Amino acid sequence: MKLIARRTLIAVALSLPAFGALAAPLTMGFSQVGAESEWRTANTASIKSAAKEAGVTLKFADAQQKQENQVKAIRSFIAQKVDVIAFSPVVESGWDTVLKEAQKAGIPVILTDRAVKVADPSLYVTFIGSDFVEEGRKAAKWLLERAAKTPNASLNIVELQGTVGSAPAIDRKKGFEEVIKTNPKLQIIRSQSGEFTRAKGKEVMESFLKQRDKKIDVLYAHNDDMAIGAIQAIEEAGLKPGKDIVIISIDGVRGAFEAMKAGKLNVTVECNPLLGPQLMQLAKDVVAKKPVEKRITVIEGVFPAEVAAKELPNRKY
Ligand code: AHR
Repeated sequence: MKLIARRTLIAVALSLPAFGALAAPLTMGFSQVGAESEWRTANTASIKSAAKEAGVTLKFADAQQKQENQVKAIRSFIAQKVDVIAFSPVVESGWDTVLKEAQKAGIPVILTDRAVKVADPSLYVTFIGSDFVEEGRKAAKWLLERAAKTPNASLNIVELQGTVGSAPAIDRKKGFEEVIKTNPKLQIIRSQSGEFTRAKGKEVMESFLKQRDKKIDVLYAHNDDMAIGAIQAIEEAGLKPGKDIVIISIDGVRGAFEAMKAGKLNVTVECNPLLGPQLMQLAKDVVAKKPVEKRITVIEGVFPAEVAAKELPNRKY
């Protein structure tokens, strides 16, 4: 008798909404860019753990930095009739067709981390991620302030861009150039993609260093991983990174803080990858047809080498 009563109680309790995040668990198809950087690893971990915590069934696909893989993944999510699709687009353009397919299937799409360029903005519901143009501006403002201490000196800058055609590469370049053009003594003398990876960052920096026509004073890297790769190249060339060449990068990963502590990197502009919890809440709201903002940005800081030792223990990625 007692046993039957207990079982009934459990059955009733489990059917109550208070005992589960949703009556039927929400299924999200997520197409990730790849695993190209420390930032990306932290972003993936945040999304996976937040999905678990929120009771969201996550179908996760790694695109290995290829748009065609993301298109395939999105099509497969549509075929599987997921409740919501979220993705971080490797490049900005070329999404109209597949997003129209998702819209036709009635599956809402959330952009995370990176933006797309589409003719019809109703093809996605909302976009959560950093303001990359502002990150580029912050990097340049730091350099302008430093340059103001030696007003007569001209500074030759080399730039390691992110993946060609990606929103962070386009926007970080744009924001940086917009600010440095206010000081004609600052000139970008070389600019090439290091694909957001350490290996490519090192390789491109090596080629910059081999071209001996102009002295390199500053390196602006669109992410910390490329800066870390470049640091290696600079050391192998017999120079002191952070001293002979001033290094500015973006992301604020632990590796960057360690490099700053060691005096090899001068500043990192924060780009927060821990978007998982917000994304899951957003997905629930979108599926429940609650109104959401079209653009959700993240508040981020700038960390110069002087604060690295103090900040390092607080870093979460
Ligand atoms: O889209 C965010 C960028 O992608 C990060 O800055 C970079 O590290 C990553 O690969």
